[in-house]
Amino acid sequence: MIRYQEDARSWVLETDLTAYVLGISERGHLLHAYYGSKLPYDADYPPAADGHGWGSFNSAEDRNPEEYMAWGGIRYAEPCLKATFADHVRDVVLQYDLFSIEGNQLTIVMRDKVYPLQVELLYQVLPGLNLIEREVRLANLGSSPITLEQALSGTLHLPREESYRLSYLTGKWAGETQLQQMNMPEGKFVMESRSGITSHHTNPWFALDAGGAADERQGVVYYGALAYSGNWKIATESRLGRTRVTAGIHDFDWAWELKGGTTFTVPKLVLGCSAEGFGGASRSLHDYQRQLVLPAPHRSELRKVLYNSWEATTFDVNEEDQGKLAEIAAELGVEQFIMDDGWFGARNTDKAGLGDWVVNPEKFPNGLQPLIDKVESLGMEFGIWVEPEMVNPDSDLYRAHPDWVYHYPTRERSMMRTQCVLNLARPDVREYLFNCLDKLLTDNRIRFVKWDMNRGFSEPGYPDASAEEHREIWTRHVQGLYEMVRQLKENHPEVIFQSCSGGGGRVDLGILQYFDQVWTSDNTDAYDRLSIQEGFSHVYSAKVMEAWVTAEEHWMNGRRLPLKYRFHSAMTGVLGIGEDLHKWSEAEREEAKGYIAQYKVIRPIVQHGRQYRLRSTRQGIVSSVMYVSEDGREAVVFGFLLGNRNGDELPLIRLDGLDAKALYREEQSRTMKSGSAWKTMGVTLPLRGDFDSCLLRLTRVEG
Ligand code: DGJ
Repeated sequence: MIRYQEDARSWVLETDLTAYVLGISERGHLLHAYYGSKLPYDADYPPAADGHGWGSFNSAEDRNPEEYMAWGGIRYAEPCLKATFADHVRDVVLQYDLFSIEGNQLTIVMRDKVYPLQVELLYQVLPGLNLIEREVRLANLGSSPITLEQALSGTLHLPREESYRLSYLTGKWAGETQLQQMNMPEGKFVMESRSGITSHHTNPWFALDAGGAADERQGVVYYGALAYSGNWKIATESRLGRTRVTAGIHDFDWAWELKGGTTFTVPKLVLGCSAEGFGGASRSLHDYQRQLVLPAPHRSELRKVLYNSWEATTFDVNEEDQGKLAEIAAELGVEQFIMDDGWFGARNTDKAGLGDWVVNPEKFPNGLQPLIDKVESLGMEFGIWVEPEMVNPDSDLYRAHPDWVYHYPTRERSMMRTQCVLNLARPDVREYLFNCLDKLLTDNRIRFVKWDMNRGFSEPGYPDASAEEHREIWTRHVQGLYEMVRQLKENHPEVIFQSCSGGGGRVDLGILQYFDQVWTSDNTDAYDRLSIQEGFSHVYSAKVMEAWVTAEEHWMNGRRLPLKYRFHSAMTGVLGIGEDLHKWSEAEREEAKGYIAQYKVIRPIVQHGRQYRLRSTRQGIVSSVMYVSEDGREAVVFGFLLGNRNGDELPLIRLDGLDAKALYREEQSRTMKSGSAWKTMGVTLPLRGDFDSCLLRLTRVEG
């Protein structure tokens, strides 16, 4: 998969369908040479060619497609690396040193010409997934410290085209992952988070297609996603006739003291090039998560149907009421019962208790065990909500350790949701939290942890830290979080962890290395959810996307939606119920039972199958998404109608992903057609009225 071409001094990294080529130019620079479809002969690939200077303002270096550009010399584009040496020199000059190939991994080593700074570029080729993982290790081989001021994960250089369209995800709390598309302007466009978490506002993913010519099914799409859950930056640049994307940890307010003999590893950046449009790009990323990213112990397991108490009881939880909800949930076929916020400390509102991870004795006089026993006797697993990185000033923890939060002694501590962020850069804070959670999981048979995080950072001070460490908190927090969860999972491998940050504020490939699934959005309006979930699906697999069925009249928009529509919307991911079940009539419970049973049958197709976005929520009144089982024998098609208008015919939905020659029967209408016919002729979905939905099942006819 990886070949070194001696003559050309270049490396060819091939996946099943793509090739990525880099090499050493005549002037000794490590340059990008090619990324795109795999070509028949090595000679087809261009050599790494130095750029030309032009006039006195455009240096040759500045036009070079450098694989890992360090700021130094005449370079003005976004650098991957910026450093200051102990003698205050702020100019890095990297020179190629050596390389090694081990299986599917290429390592290229570069060193500064004078200073003991070593840069190791690691490329992991994932052949079947058609992806390349990039990682970088920065090492100080000397004894004096080197200050890193920018240490990003890498740059993707795009082939020369007249224009590119950029696709990216933006949003807000309760409105995450909305797909945006625009023609890339000349100049720089930066997507970023500065709030300490991945953020609701943008997600660390990008996709670029030349001239906006690609669609869901065809066209070349270059894309990438970053595995990091703190401040990040993706800078796209169109300058001097070239397009590039540089991604990694945000350099804003960031520095890292690389002490002598130490190494700093930057987050992984995964890159892909799909010839099957945006759909192909998403499916590679979904497979990647399911095959390689998600935590190993539960990676291959299907996610369970859960109940979550938040929208039913908010902070008003107690043994009796939760027990009653559990009884109904079990009757419906729910498999995991998750008690949300309110069970600990003095937590009766969001104004107190965070930080005190002890069971509230008034709400649970005999601890959690009686409720857990009940939940288990009903045939379900028990799960619990925590928000470990936070503290309310009105808590025993804060009264004992007011210095455990990020703060500046001379500034007021800004509150959001009446809470402060605990300083996870501090080893004593991490130890305290780890012990609390480890004890909680040891003392109680908890099988699911919902790990929440309900505010961004402010006044990010760490007064006790040494002068050099102040700006390291951004990264130390993320590292501390990852390490804590890793250790908890090691001690309690049976527990499923869900990442939540006021909904989808911390969803990224980094968190998915430690958490098994995520809470997609606090917005559970099944109609709004369709566009949130569609955007989400551009990057993340349905297997990690929790979606709950909640009240008929939604708390946020006041919209009323039928139970069928609410279920269908949630059945496109990991199904959950978040409604006050006492409010459902007998008839509604019966209906719900049917959907849950149906979901259990189709969930291998939804969670482990290939996903096809057949028609976008942005395309008008009908949207549709389809999943095809891993073996291609079964498929499910979901359709959603906003409302009929003027007696117009509904658009045809052309199915995808079926074996072209095989015959598939649609269950309801008993229609039988070849995969090819389902694709070319399409189908008018049986939808009528307002907020109607449907679920079609297709099965391959064998023989
Ligand atoms: C925000 C989460 O997104 C909600 O689901 C819920 O857990 C609340 N926090 C509880 O405070």
